[in-house]
Amino acid sequence: MIPQKTVEEILSVARVEEVIEDFVTLKRRGVNMMGNCPFHDEKTPSFVVSPTKGIYKCFGCGKSGTAVGFVMEHEHISFPEALKYLANKYNITVEEKEVSQEDRAAMQLTDAYYIVNEFAAAHFISKLTETDEGQSVGMSYYKERGFLKKTIEQWGLGYALSEGKTLVAEAKERQFNLEHLRALGLSTQYESDFFKGRVMFPIHNLGGKIIAFAGRMLGKDKNQPKYINSPESEIYNKRKILYGMYFAKAAIRKVDECIMVEGYTDVITLHQGGVENVVASSGTSLTVEQIRLVKRFTDNIKIIYDGDPAGIKAALRGLDLVLAEDLNVRLVLLPKDEDPDSFFKKSGHDAFTAYLNANSKDFIDFKTELLLEEAGNDPIRRAKVLKDIIESIALIPDAIKRSVYIQQTASRMQIEEAVLAGELEKDLKKLQKDKQQQQQRDRLREERNQFVARAEHDEESGEITLLPSTEKEKSLTYDDFQEKELVRLLVTGCDTYIEKNSNVTVHEYILPFVSENIDYFTNPLYQKIFNFALQLFQASQTIHFNDFVHHKDEEVRNLAVDVSLSKYTFAKWNDKGVYLQTQPVPEENFKKDCYQTMLRFRLKVLKKEIEMLEKMLHETPDEEKNIDIQVIQQLMLERNEIARELTQIVY
Ligand code: CTP
Ligand code: MN
Repeated sequence: MIPQKTVEEILSVARVEEVIEDFVTLKRRGVNMMGNCPFHDEKTPSFVVSPTKGIYKCFGCGKSGTAVGFVMEHEHISFPEALKYLANKYNITVEEKEVSQEDRAAMQLTDAYYIVNEFAAAHFISKLTETDEGQSVGMSYYKERGFLKKTIEQWGLGYALSEGKTLVAEAKERQFNLEHLRALGLSTQYESDFFKGRVMFPIHNLGGKIIAFAGRMLGKDKNQPKYINSPESEIYNKRKILYGMYFAKAAIRKVDECIMVEGYTDVITLHQGGVENVVASSGTSLTVEQIRLVKRFTDNIKIIYDGDPAGIKAALRGLDLVLAEDLNVRLVLLPKDEDPDSFFKKSGHDAFTAYLNANSKDFIDFKTELLLEEAGNDPIRRAKVLKDIIESIALIPDAIKRSVYIQQTASRMQIEEAVLAGELEKDLKKLQKDKQQQQQRDRLREERNQFVARAEHDEESGEITLLPSTEKEKSLTYDDFQEKELVRLLVTGCDTYIEKNSNVTVHEYILPFVSENIDYFTNPLYQKIFNFALQLFQASQTIHFNDFVHHKDEEVRNLAVDVSLSKYTFAKWNDKGVYLQTQPVPEENFKKDCYQTMLRFRLKVLKKEIEMLEKMLHETPDEEKNIDIQVIQQLMLERNEIARELTQIVY
């Protein structure tokens, strides 16, 4: 237990922006700071941190909270663990009573896992330093590799004895839950040690907690893998981890570049030699998750290859996904038969970094050269290379970067730029189409999941009754009125709170909703003005009236002026003129207006979805029809609820 006094001290000292900046790159925007949300995938920042309010909120996924909440959410740890993390960061001593067995049982599973791993790491360290075998086998191996004492300590390197039960025995003695050791891959199901006679490399998460181990064998037994790793567990997901990131992240941010190597020992040797912005993909091909991890700290990646050309060519294919994440990628080939570890030892810090600087090539250039060399003068093969390169370029989200690459490629291959641009256009269209189809599939899946979740919840509530689609309901979704009304709220609601004494602005109220529903706009001009607004909002959170009425696009300017002057004419959408009765002064009634308009918009979206699903039903295979029908019914239920709510609102 942490004493209340200490809890309060920690909470008062921890600054939300300092805490979050260890994980997310934030840029100052007025009084707030913004970055890419670490809780969902996004390319344009919608994650806002308010240092003055001490909170964060993501306008994309809705996650929000305080400094300590962030640490809990991000690291998947409990409140006390998050407090300890913060105490450590701010050098606050936490005097805590020894964790008793009952405490241990009550602790969250993940916390328990971290403690087991910590115990195992300490065990491996003590076997390395305190046993004859550890010294003569483990330590001499590390020495031979040139690892200094301080390096061994920093990385928590250890040794697992070859006799097969020492870790499990100590765990039993200390009353650890053996189930946990098994889940973490430290013990076999027969209660013997999993790692035997290996040098041990702990793998840390971003917060410095040990989530797994890699054990390297010694000697040259061809029948054994060189490295064995802990299996995946609640706390270890290989796809999301880059070895060394905990020790490298500060340097990566400072240098604004991440160097990527393959091996554990490469990382350690480079760090020891003063090149600290280095992490390892651990021999597997890069994943999207790993790339997004890098992107939290920098946009620049330099990948060092030590393989043969065939291996590199295979790796290049996977690298397209780095482009799609909008990172700048450079590649370096090491001299033949060198890996970063051996090459660094031979050349030393200065020559090594000089080599990297002189020999790194932009990804597209690298790929072009490599493929062209292979293709030789064969025109058909050269054309294929060209297509391949353009496909890569099409993945780059930034249009300016794309056109620069197109220019370069055109001049290098002596082909007219217009031809390449045309080809690029085709690829972009195709990507766009794929993306839309994917989104549609995702939406459908999402609706299904929501349905299943709600069905479980509603189990007792009985049958679904459907309201007939009345004239009244039709009028509620009449035309694109809601879209235009949303535009009016957007433009006239600048710098305004939704109601007196509220601290939520109109934009904060409607834009997250619009952002989710932007694809459903039927009027392209309205969609355009919202896309513009969403961009501004994500960038700076403040949008001024002048941004609209002085917009460079005439259509947008006209629309903005139109909606801000025509508020009373909206009453026409309903012949009874009821709109006027409830909104005599729209400026003072933003909350209600916004809410109703969003409901109406959602109603329209639902109707469209239902229609679409009903059409798609014909193509659904029989065995899946049932679920689709249920989804449709669920959507109808929501539609009816909204319709009911809207008709209950006094006109
Ligand atoms: N690797 C692995 N399992 C293996 C072999 C390799 O997980 N059986 C991963 C490890 O992350 C390793 C990386 O691939 O660090 C690169 O492999 P390799 O170059 O063979 O290992 P090094 O780290 O260079 O090890 P050493 O220098 O000690 O041979
Ligand atoms: Mn090596």
